[in-house]
Amino acid sequence: MSLKGKIVFVTGASAGIGAATALAFADQGAKLLLAARRAGRLAEVASKAKERGAPAVHSIDLDVRDRRAVQNAIDSLPAEWAEIDILVNNAGLSRGLDKLYMGKIEDWEEMIDTNVKGLLYVTRAVVPGMVVRSRGHVINLGSTAGELTYPNGAVYCASKAAERSINDGLRQDVLGTPVRVTSVDPGMVETDFSLVRFHGDTERASKVYKGVKALRPEDVADVIVWAAMRPAHVNIARVLMTPVQQANSLLFHRDE
Ligand SMILES: NC(=O)c1ccc[n+]([C@@H]2O[C@H](COP(=O)([O-])OP(=O)(O)OC[C@H]3O[C@@H](n4cnc5c(N)ncnc54)[C@H](OP(=O)(O)O)[C@@H]3O)[C@@H](O)[C@H]2O)c1
Repeated sequence: MSLKGKIVFVTGASAGIGAATALAFADQGAKLLLAARRAGRLAEVASKAKERGAPAVHSIDLDVRDRRAVQNAIDSLPAEWAEIDILVNNAGLSRGLDKLYMGKIEDWEEMIDTNVKGLLYVTRAVVPGMVVRSRGHVINLGSTAGELTYPNGAVYCASKAAERSINDGLRQDVLGTPVRVTSVDPGMVETDFSLVRFHGDTERASKVYKGVKALRPEDVADVIVWAAMRPAHVNIARVLMTPVQQANSLLFHRDE
């Protein structure tokens, strides 16, 4: 399926997997609706996307945790942007790595509000239009963490297990329409993810990737675009992908 001229909405497009996904869709000539909270970073991605071939880019300063702002952002889109063809629900984060009984409740709330509730708000605002137009594709970012819980990560893992249920539930609920629903579930990807998890502690963040050739955000973006380009009658339900040096969310082979 050609993506030329399709309207692709990527949440969390200011960094990491979201930014790489925006650029990969730009390579295919898609029009990009990009959302995140850091407007400056988003502007840089928008300008690169235009250089890479996106015919048009529209950026939205948006916190997906703000239910009203999400609905308002979708309701007030200029007419030429309103008919979203592909939604990439990517905005997300982890905070902290603590035993559950010692965890910071603010960290839990931020993860649940972003990864679960934010994803639901955006889905609720965008999918009704897809159903009415009889076309659309929702691609959610899951994780190996949603498959297998790792120690000290229960709440992040739970948020990704919730993504898995929401992805499967949505696919059932749009059955009978041409709307497609996909979850792309990566293992370790080298982005700002760990820096955000450890509240800016660069030394602790860099240790996460030590001795492992992690996935690059572009590797994940490739799979997202691949899923979007399948023929209209093909639905990729879920793709689980890891670096070769990772077997699951618990087991890594690290070079000395
Ligand atoms: N890196 C990994 O190992 C890995 C593995 C599996 C799954 N994932 C998932 O992949 C997704 C992207 O993560 P990443 O690794 O690319 O991390 P990243 O480099 O830290 O990027 C996260 C993106 O999400 C955005 N975001 C966070 N909170 C937001 C909010 N409240 N509203 C709007 N945007 C928000 C950030 O933008 P602003 O800060 O500008 O708002 C940023 O663009 C997440 O869902 C993550 O759980 C990551």
